[in-house]
Amino acid sequence: MQTDLRGRDMITTQEFTDDEIWTILDVAFDLKRKRAVGEPHALLRDKVLAMLFFFSSTRTRVSFEAGMAQLGGHAQFIESRTTQIKHGDTPKELGEIIGRYCDGIAVRHVEWGEGNKYIRDIAEASRVPVLNMQCEIYHPFQILADAMTIIENFGRNLKGRTINVSWAYAASYSKPMSVPHCLILLMTRFGMNVRLTHPPEFKLMPDIVEQAKENARRAGGSLELLDDFDAGFKGADIVLPKSWGPMMTTLDPDETTRITNKYQDWIADERRMALAAEHAIYMHPLPADRNIEVTDAVIDGPQSRVWDQAENRLHAQKAVMALTMR
Ligand code: CP
Repeated sequence: MQTDLRGRDMITTQEFTDDEIWTILDVAFDLKRKRAVGEPHALLRDKVLAMLFFFSSTRTRVSFEAGMAQLGGHAQFIESRTTQIKHGDTPKELGEIIGRYCDGIAVRHVEWGEGNKYIRDIAEASRVPVLNMQCEIYHPFQILADAMTIIENFGRNLKGRTINVSWAYAASYSKPMSVPHCLILLMTRFGMNVRLTHPPEFKLMPDIVEQAKENARRAGGSLELLDDFDAGFKGADIVLPKSWGPMMTTLDPDETTRITNKYQDWIADERRMALAAEHAIYMHPLPADRNIEVTDAVIDGPQSRVWDQAENRLHAQKAVMALTMR
């Protein structure tokens, strides 16, 4: 078991071995238990995490801040638009300088074609771990929390379980592909049967799909591509229908709206949930467009696990911070 993750960046779970992923999950479950019984766990006393946001957040900001406080340290909230970053502080400068003030740097930057490179440039210049709070390609902490939630419901042996990672309609904004990317990358490593369901215009990055196929081959699972919303639900143990933008087809806002509006009936509703296995669970990273992307009856219903999923962000992030920033 590889347990020494000190100093490591968390930009994508793909850069961690299976052993290392299980170490993170085991520590996360242990920290969840400690919090439940009120057992102090100030593993990062006096340490500071800089949290740099280029895009809005609710769960990520609150859970990282709470997590650092519970670990005995402190988290700083830094917004790009209210700092000199908007006037030209470069990622190299930020990595060098913030890396000298703080013990970890967490970044959210989801701009298409910019975010991941920006985070990697900070990491290159930083002497402390860099944590990806979401870029346009990856959202590793969401997917570690999702893995915890799935394990809580189905146990540690997930081989043969079917998860449907599906596109769903939303009208609010063009959401990043980082969640479906990370889901197909990590769930295939557990030997699961992963379905990726989306309309033809909403393809994911081909390189990510190829990596997921290779993960499935190694773990003895599968990656199946579907374009029929109902078919994705059929017999699935876990359904995670959520919206993302058609970035592989167009970056034009008007074209995006025109394409997206063709699929307004891709809503997770009770009829579709009834197609899944009787014991199936519904998941969504939130925020969801209620009664557009998913009905109230489903997201608030007995099969929904969205609150546990959101809670597990806290424990997964604390685990990675405790392992990498100590
Ligand atoms: N799921 C998620 O990352 O939520 P926020 O965008 O609110 O942080």
